[in-house]
Amino acid sequence: MKLLENKIALITGAARGIGRRTAELFAEEGATVIFTDLKETDSSKELLQILQSHNPDSSFYTANAASWEETEQLAKTIIERYGRVDAIVNNAGITRDNLLLRMTPEDWDLVIQINLRSVFNYCKAFIPYMMKKRNGSIINTSSVVGVNGNGGQCNYAAAKAGIIGFTKSFAQEFGSRNIRCNAIAPGFIRTAMTDAIPDEARQKWIDDIPMRRVGTELDVARVSLFLASDLAEYVTGQVICVDGGISL
Ligand code: NAI
Repeated sequence: MKLLENKIALITGAARGIGRRTAELFAEEGATVIFTDLKETDSSKELLQILQSHNPDSSFYTANAASWEETEQLAKTIIERYGRVDAIVNNAGITRDNLLLRMTPEDWDLVIQINLRSVFNYCKAFIPYMMKKRNGSIINTSSVVGVNGNGGQCNYAAAKAGIIGFTKSFAQEFGSRNIRCNAIAPGFIRTAMTDAIPDEARQKWIDDIPMRRVGTELDVARVSLFLASDLAEYVTGQVICVDGGISL
């Protein structure tokens, strides 16, 4: 039996990158996948086709994860259509890096809104439905930067550290209802963004990673798969670093 057979999973900001790879893996493992992103793109259309080739009920919705109103409406729409959601991966995130001296209040607010407020939005909007079913797994995407901090990323590190505090608190509030909540903390993952880093700088980062390689989107997706599946049915409130050991 596949690991997510008969499960319905929702992934935010999944049109590309880690979210997209997670959506593909979840579908390969039997899930009906609902994914969101800010707008419809060639990549979101292509992903929807792939997901529907595994399970025709898979779907895509445009929604700004930072907006409470849009999230609340989306939750109603999804529950009307599917009746329940078994797993949520809060993946949507952005960076607006700068040294604190140059960081604008707008870039602070934007990063907190999109990375941290979105986690609040999806957890709050879907928790009443998960409570009715007494079942659910929430996976929040933090970062090693949220665990260790990183110069030039005060806004992002604060949001990602906030996600860890939120995750542990949520796990305490809803454990008795059989709703689990964990965070993943990816390290240096190979994506379009990290490919743009000059070779020399990239090699310097790699030299600091105990496993001497960057991570892949699949490395991260597999940990989300474990947490979404019943294999992790007694795991809650944890932060799992997917980082080749860089946070050690
Ligand atoms: P990405 O930039 O490739 O993909 C992020 C997706 O989120 C995009 O499709 C974007 O349109 C969507 N998005 C952005 N704002 C949104 C909003 N307000 N509402 C809905 N969707 C929105 O990013 P990547 O690299 O795949 O990262 C995914 C998650 O993993 C993020 O939370 C990121 O902070 C986290 N992460 C990534 C690492 C990396 O090395 N790539 C390392 C650690 C954490």
